[in-house]
Amino acid sequence: MNKFTYYNPTKIEFGKEKENNIGEYLKQSNIKKVLLVYGGGSIKKNGLYEKIITSLNRNNIKFEELSGVVSNPVLSKVYEGIELAKNNEIKAILAVGGGSVVDSAKTIAAGVKYDGDVWDFFINKAQILKALPIFTVMTLSATASEMNGNAVIINDDTKQKYSISSVLINPTISIINPELMATVSKEYLAYSAVDVIAHCIEVYFTATIHPHFNSRLVESIIKTVIETTEILLKNPNDYDARAEFAWAATQGLNGLTPTGTKDGNFPNHMIEHSLSALFNVAHGAGLAVVIPAWMKWYKEKNISQFKRFAKEIFNNNDENVGIEKLENWFNKIGAPITLNDINISRKEIEALADNAYETAKVWGMDTIYSKEIILKILEKA
Ligand code: NZQ
Ligand code: ZN
Repeated sequence: MNKFTYYNPTKIEFGKEKENNIGEYLKQSNIKKVLLVYGGGSIKKNGLYEKIITSLNRNNIKFEELSGVVSNPVLSKVYEGIELAKNNEIKAILAVGGGSVVDSAKTIAAGVKYDGDVWDFFINKAQILKALPIFTVMTLSATASEMNGNAVIINDDTKQKYSISSVLINPTISIINPELMATVSKEYLAYSAVDVIAHCIEVYFTATIHPHFNSRLVESIIKTVIETTEILLKNPNDYDARAEFAWAATQGLNGLTPTGTKDGNFPNHMIEHSLSALFNVAHGAGLAVVIPAWMKWYKEKNISQFKRFAKEIFNNNDENVGIEKLENWFNKIGAPITLNDINISRKEIEALADNAYETAKVWGMDTIYSKEIILKILEKA
């Protein structure tokens, strides 16, 4: 096991009706005014917005609103939020939504405390030194943004989808009530399942040291996701399946699975972000296209772990069958598995590889992933 530091300061409030306490949690943290950030309206349709406002009012928490955060969130909306927060003496950001809303909230929280352009953090030009506290009410489980210090944003001018990472933007408190997720579409449930699996397998396959404990942890998350997704596709209101899915998703990227591993990286995410940035593909859908292609290209480099994956997840001794079964499962739950499935023609591969190679440079992965290699992977998709 490699040496590591593990620090996760986010408090999780998990379970039914916890969202009604958001006002109390803010009050206990001495917060008197928040910027309420949400998406395109799902929280108004399902009644959550009313519950949040009632709880804020009951506790005399004042608020301003930033609505309309889109899936694959954009920098221009973040700038709008930073201005709102700066002009209204906002003391914390309250995100109510999925990963896109939470990531926008985190970026606003860091941007408010920085005099320069918040994009500087994304291109390694500046480091986050301060941020407003962030509180979240999750409506969709996939990214684990509720319990990590990451945010991913698309610069709508330059078409770059980059990320920031700092413990200073870990949420202070995140509320996870699985009941609130019953209205997530089947499509997004499938994308979420793919995303959680992706978070798990990136380091599982690429690390040079991967302790058995971590492999078992990852395999447990993947098996839980496969099992509960199948239940939820048939019955979206199954609370226990929804709850296990949600907690497994949080574990997938809250920093626990890579502890003690060495040299792991995130090539599937690196390539996928270009699909989102250039073609607005949903994150999980893009991953479902990239992952089987990447696995076919990469498997020889860590054959024992690919054999282990096939055995543990699909009870088969052949590493190729493991890849095939995962690809078939993505297809079965309704995720796309080829570029063709997401209406991207072969002639776009060049531009995708150019964009992904720029990300590789920012992420320090360009020595492994040249443009030629990225092209080879995309040609398999
Ligand atoms: O905008 P609304 O109307 O709320 O609709 C959303 C959105 O259209 C809808 N939705 C959310 N909760 C719902 C619901 N619809 C009905 N009922 C509910 N309860 O679902 C759609 C997708 O939401 P989004 O927040 O975009 O999904 P997700 O949580 O998958 O977030 C994706 C974003 O997170 C980034 C991705 O790249 C992508 O931009 N990631 C963030 C990470 C992180 N912060 O650690 C890591 C990930 O690897 C990922 O890169
Ligand atoms: Zn992801």
